[in-house]
Amino acid sequence: TGLRVAQTGLWADHGSGLWVFRLKGPDGLQSHCTEGCFVVLLVVQSCAAYQLVCYYTSWSQYREGDGSCFPDAIDPFLCTHVIYSFANISNNEIDTWEWNDVSLYDTLNTLKTRNPNLKTLLSVGGWNFGSERFSKIASNTQSRRTFIKSVPPFLRTHGFDGLDLAWIYPGRRDKRHLTSLVKEMKAEFVKEAPKEKQPLLLSAAVSAGKVALDRGYDMSRLAQHLDFISLLTYDFHGAWRQSAGHHSPLFPGQEAPSSDRYSNTDYAVGYALRLGVPAQKLLMGIPTFGRSFTLASSKIGVGAPISGPGLPGQFTKEGGILAYYEICDFLRGATVHRLPDQQVPYATKGNQWVGYDDQESVKTKVQYLKNRGLAGAMVWALDLDDFRGTFCGKNLHFPLTSAIKEALAAA
Ligand SMILES: *[C@@H]1O[C@H](CO)[C@@H](O)[C@H](O)[C@H]1NC(C)=O
Repeated sequence: TGLRVAQTGLWADHGSGLWVFRLKGPDGLQSHCTEGCFVVLLVVQSCAAYQLVCYYTSWSQYREGDGSCFPDAIDPFLCTHVIYSFANISNNEIDTWEWNDVSLYDTLNTLKTRNPNLKTLLSVGGWNFGSERFSKIASNTQSRRTFIKSVPPFLRTHGFDGLDLAWIYPGRRDKRHLTSLVKEMKAEFVKEAPKEKQPLLLSAAVSAGKVALDRGYDMSRLAQHLDFISLLTYDFHGAWRQSAGHHSPLFPGQEAPSSDRYSNTDYAVGYALRLGVPAQKLLMGIPTFGRSFTLASSKIGVGAPISGPGLPGQFTKEGGILAYYEICDFLRGATVHRLPDQQVPYATKGNQWVGYDDQESVKTKVQYLKNRGLAGAMVWALDLDDFRGTFCGKNLHFPLTSAIKEALAAA
């Protein structure tokens, strides 16, 4: 009956995904509206909703005491996607890695009964898988076909919504085979999709190092077939260097040598975009772990000489790496420094030096990725955050991942 959407009465709040339309009557005067006036609320999936893609690692179950993490510790509303890592490939077919994977898959996917919007993916590969094995499977048409065919039934049987490829890292000869693998996998997912359902998701974790990116990835073609790409924007610095430095700085250090200009998040994100990855498919990796060093002298700043990796953490037990919850312990009695150029903190205590992310630095990183128009953030890993809320204070579970979630949701 002559109703129209009044231009001035339309507003949208992208953050919450809530759209409000005010319909005006033919006389155009709100104050005179009676039965000709409606307020319509439409809750739609907002395009501006950011993704928060979080990895869970199955080997975290073996950490002792309070370090032991099972998928039932995961808050189903924390992340938009949870990725279970890692799956194996056996006889060219996707396969479990741990003896109890099937039971852990079930625990993870049961989270979706509490949050039906949660998506879960299974990641195949990883650091211990070996690039050579991936190379062999991907380079042969027959074995590639066998692998691809094996994936949808495996994912459907165990209740996953997609596959994440973690080939760490493809070499020069692998570049076009990785593209074929991704292209053919996506085609299989489209073909396999039941009529009433979304196709399985396909994502990849890719190196944030310029050299590795140039060598092994045809980024723009990969992006055509992938639903999202996670940049591993951390591990830029480690004990393999002779000096202390932050492993996941947002920006280069002002005094860093020019050879270091690629080793930061800003460069990697900008480079991936220049290579042709659409911003709305790109995720920026944020670590919930730090990289530590043992200092070799009384110098404590960035670039200070080191004698090796930092001491192993009580739970993660690996030299040079500390979970955020172990860092919270370390911070008692430590000195915290902030790097104004690199926008991240580090802490020192005695001869120990650790570069990490905290609630402040992850907020800065999220603001950055929003300014760049990226799809969202990827977190490595849920089990390295203070998932019990017992180490970092305030009884807050997943303090870092929660800070990322909050910053993504903020206007
Ligand atoms: C992964 O698969 C390979 C090939 O079948 C096998 O040799 C290896 O033991 C498997 N790894 C695990 C952890 O099961």
